[in-house]
Amino acid sequence: MKTLRKIWKWFDDRTGTTEAINPLADHLVPPDANWLYVFGSATLFCFILQVVTGLALAFLYQPSTGTAYESLKYITYQAHFGHFLRGIHYFGASAMILLVGIHMIRVYLMAAFKYPREMSWISGSILLVLTVTMGFTGQLLRWDSNGVWSAIVGAEQAGRIPFLGKAVARIFLGGETITGLTVSRFFSIHVFLIPAMLFALIGLHLYLVIRNGISEPPKTGKKVEPANYRKWYQDMLRDKGVPFWPDAGWRDLAFGVLVIFVIVILSLVVGAPEIGKPPDPSDIYANPRPDWYFMWIFALFALMPREIESVAIAFSPVILGIVLILLPLLNNKGERSPLRRPWAIAIVTIIVTMVASFWYIGQKSPWSPAFQTKPLSQEVIGNVSTNATNGGDLFYKKACIYCHAVSGYGGKRGPDLTYVGSRLTSEQITIKIVNGGGNMPSFGASLTGKDLNDLTAFLLTRKK
Ligand code: HEC
Repeated sequence: MKTLRKIWKWFDDRTGTTEAINPLADHLVPPDANWLYVFGSATLFCFILQVVTGLALAFLYQPSTGTAYESLKYITYQAHFGHFLRGIHYFGASAMILLVGIHMIRVYLMAAFKYPREMSWISGSILLVLTVTMGFTGQLLRWDSNGVWSAIVGAEQAGRIPFLGKAVARIFLGGETITGLTVSRFFSIHVFLIPAMLFALIGLHLYLVIRNGISEPPKTGKKVEPANYRKWYQDMLRDKGVPFWPDAGWRDLAFGVLVIFVIVILSLVVGAPEIGKPPDPSDIYANPRPDWYFMWIFALFALMPREIESVAIAFSPVILGIVLILLPLLNNKGERSPLRRPWAIAIVTIIVTMVASFWYIGQKSPWSPAFQTKPLSQEVIGNVSTNATNGGDLFYKKACIYCHAVSGYGGKRGPDLTYVGSRLTSEQITIKIVNGGGNMPSFGASLTGKDLNDLTAFLLTRKK
């Protein structure tokens, strides 16, 4: 014990650890900070958990298009604790996204973004984007059919950004389409690029919390006036402030530990999400369902009229970004209490209801792609040439049926093809299948010439 203390003394003297930590632990915070203040720090707990489990996964994961799926199967079914580890990383990610959202709503409702904490809000908004990007890229790294699909959809969405789109998509995919490089690209983004940015921005975010102090719980009628806020805040802390540790910090610690406990329990009981079917480029529509936190966006885009989808995808992130940045800049003084800001309550209610409803719809997905489809029956295909009959089979095997219905069988994502033979010529159909476009994937690379001819032959028999 004595020796240990001696070693610590030596270490502390040379490094100044106590000197660095004490002011952080002792710094004064408003006395009435409460349980609503724990979501930010709980997000940080999750982040650390993600770094640790992510590192462990990276030891075993083989980031290339050819090997990723197999190595993930190895992690899940053979490596010691692999399944558990994946579970923690998955539920950790889910918790992180959920907690970031709750933290943001709390800050917004309490108007904690007002003077002098505008930069905290802005850095927090960037952290939100980075966290979501982590979720998205992480889901791709599973590199099952779902991951491949998400990569393609992501690149397609990116491709719609005016001017830069094509370049962005190329950078992400490492080429025009999925290539051997695609997984390494996403791996580098998920493991190096974004975590580095996250570390830097979390550092900034925490530094700002220390510099400006945490906001006091709002009181109705007590307005923020930039001219004298700092002086008022300092005086308030001097008179009534309590040291961060342990008076306020114990709540952060207790809640953080609880969150981690729940994550561990969930990964033991529920476990990591199943890995989907192996990636098969000719069957990329096998099960295109994103993880739960993206489900609502998935539903939103699926239900959106096709004409506005491109515009919405290109511009909504831009608009959202501008709104998030302008919010604290245009709105940095005055009333903070949510009771005097009914609009804030209304906006949060509307957004939460909207996200929840789209999420619910997404879970049920009454629109297509319809994955529970069966092959077209002989009755539907009818008495047609051998080629066309084969085309009728391919219509199911190549997943056209997920998006297109024929005589009432199939999905509704794309146009009904019951009478396509009366509407389009053989050339038009072939071109459409090969090139895709307008939410129709291109099948040029995944169909043989005979498949293509047979499919076209089949579709041409669909006449009034
Ligand atoms: C992910 C869903 C999806 C899948 C899978 C899909 N399509 Fe499509 N398809 C669409 C959409 C959406 C359109 C409408 C495109 C547009 O607006 O130009 C479309 C359009 C078409 C058209 C033109 C229809 C018309 O009336 O203009 C044909 C023909 C067609 N698809 C055939 C196929 C075939 C054959 C397959 C399978 C090899 C297939 N599609 C797979 C979504 C899909």
